[in-house]
Amino acid sequence: DALRTIVQQMPKAELHIHIEGSLEPELIFALAQRNGVSLPYESVAQLRQAYDFADLQSFLDIYYAGASVLREERDFYDMTMAYLRRAHADNVRHAEIFFDPQTHTARGVPMAAVVGGIFRACQDGPISASLIMCFLRHLSEEEAIATLEEALPFRDKIIGVGLDSSERGHPPEKFMRVFRRCKELGFHLVAHAGEEGPPAYIETALDLLEVERIDHGVRCLEDPRLTERLARERIALTVCPLSNVKLRVFPDMAAHNLPALLAAGLRVTINSDDPAYFGGYLNDNFEAAFAALPLTLAHAEALARNSFGAAFLGAAAKRAHL
Ligand code: HPA
Ligand code: ZN
Repeated sequence: DALRTIVQQMPKAELHIHIEGSLEPELIFALAQRNGVSLPYESVAQLRQAYDFADLQSFLDIYYAGASVLREERDFYDMTMAYLRRAHADNVRHAEIFFDPQTHTARGVPMAAVVGGIFRACQDGPISASLIMCFLRHLSEEEAIATLEEALPFRDKIIGVGLDSSERGHPPEKFMRVFRRCKELGFHLVAHAGEEGPPAYIETALDLLEVERIDHGVRCLEDPRLTERLARERIALTVCPLSNVKLRVFPDMAAHNLPALLAAGLRVTINSDDPAYFGGYLNDNFEAAFAALPLTLAHAEALARNSFGAAFLGAAAKRAHL
């Protein structure tokens, strides 16, 4: 229908996409063959069948296994270029791309191959794109600090840092010192919080890590005072509808709290998170949300406007997109 067409065609920014989560099963098999990596799956179809998740951890186990085929600079380039082309087809004009260096450096892949390959694709690709380096929160803060040191030679290729992986039991405050150092270095700051973890993690991400956006954040509505604060301070939430259903944050799309988040006056954006694993890219996320939920043209326009408004772009670039 008309709204569906408008939603598909409107220009958007994507602010929550893990590049390793854009690795499609076909590319996983192609890279495994190219690099001589053996996989515990017989076929693309068998790998896809494993994409039935009970929670965040059951997804992360398969996501890290998939990323093990990435060995060379060109692997990171090919993966990123495939995402940028796919995003371009969804009328994404600008993407802020997460990457997880520790998933690769732990296997002996040089930081230069990881950052270099992703960044080179961003320069060559069809849309504007920048990089946000995420620390794995199930690892120690010392390991995050060592990763930051390893990344400093590539400082000019990275606009910000984030925090991802297993949320429960790994609160933001575990990473206070490394985030303080990143702020001094002039990085933009974001963190996953309030996906599976409690609203208190959203508060500590804001107060102790001083992040500028919250990734997910959907559990904020359990705390009315926090919800009011997020609205008042215009903190963006990078919400990922298909991810939330696949990881059983909500039982189905009709139960998603996106309409309630919007009604609370929050600066919500829609994003794909790990599109190869969760059943779709950005327009698939818009389409699934708009099909199942009472959302209007005004909501679509607000979501697109918020995506550019919350992007780490200069005022002139934002105006050019809006
Ligand atoms: N949450 C936490 N860590 C992640 C995610 C997510 O949704 N995707 C990739 N790493
Ligand atoms: Zn995420």
